[in-house]
Amino acid sequence: MESTGYLLQGPRVAVRRVRRQDYDELTELAQASAEMLRRWLGARDNSPAAFESYLERFEQPTHEGFVICLRGTGAIVGGVNINNVVRGALQSGSLGYTAYASTTGHGYMTQGLQLVLQLAFGQLELHRLEANIQPGNTSSLKLVERLGFRREGYSLAFQYIDGAWRDHERWAITAETVRTAAQSTDFSESRI
Ligand SMILES: CC(C)(COP(=O)(O)OP(=O)(O)OC[C@H]1O[C@@H](n2cnc3c(N)ncnc32)[C@H](O)[C@@H]1OP(=O)(O)O)[C@@H](O)C(=O)NCCC(=O)NCCS
Repeated sequence: MESTGYLLQGPRVAVRRVRRQDYDELTELAQASAEMLRRWLGARDNSPAAFESYLERFEQPTHEGFVICLRGTGAIVGGVNINNVVRGALQSGSLGYTAYASTTGHGYMTQGLQLVLQLAFGQLELHRLEANIQPGNTSSLKLVERLGFRREGYSLAFQYIDGAWRDHERWAITAETVRTAAQSTDFSESRI
């Protein structure tokens, strides 16, 4: 069990940090999902050099990179980043996440992100997480709503994705909200 590196486990999925050995698996998933990901995340550079700089990002205290894995097989079913962490009076971060063509629509992201929220508001001592989502990205909007995020506002021309500056809805969740939700979801046995 130690070798998995899992930080937290839920009933079906577990969360661990992304690592160099994940390159082949993540590249295969991303290539098979290129069309699904391009519209919402932009075209991806799947080169080894791009993966190296992706990993380097997580050497900074301002970024955290995780993968969501199936507990049974260890197969990666999703990726989650906490970006632009600001400490001090804010204790905030910006959430990025993706599933893949073969892994979407099974509830893995909902459960995996619940675990990431526990990490963020527990071990990482954050207080607020923000997610910026294009208005047409129905799956992503449903996902954050299920997780207890609140819609805070609408940002015009927020991010350059797939050839244009895209408007985004801004959603956020705070530690207090998660603690309230956790009262009805017992993850106590999921900790390693
Ligand atoms: C956004 C994204 C992560 C959402 O992922 P997802 O697969 O919908 O999320 P989940 O894994 O939690 O699956 C939830 C869906 O599985 C369904 N489901 C099927 N079996 C299930 C089960 N056993 N348990 C729970 N849910 C299940 C749910 O009903 C839900 O479907 P619905 O959204 O139609 O109601 C995914 O669509 C994606 O990666 N998109 C491309 C990248 C992207 O947009 N990233 C976010 C940018 S803001």
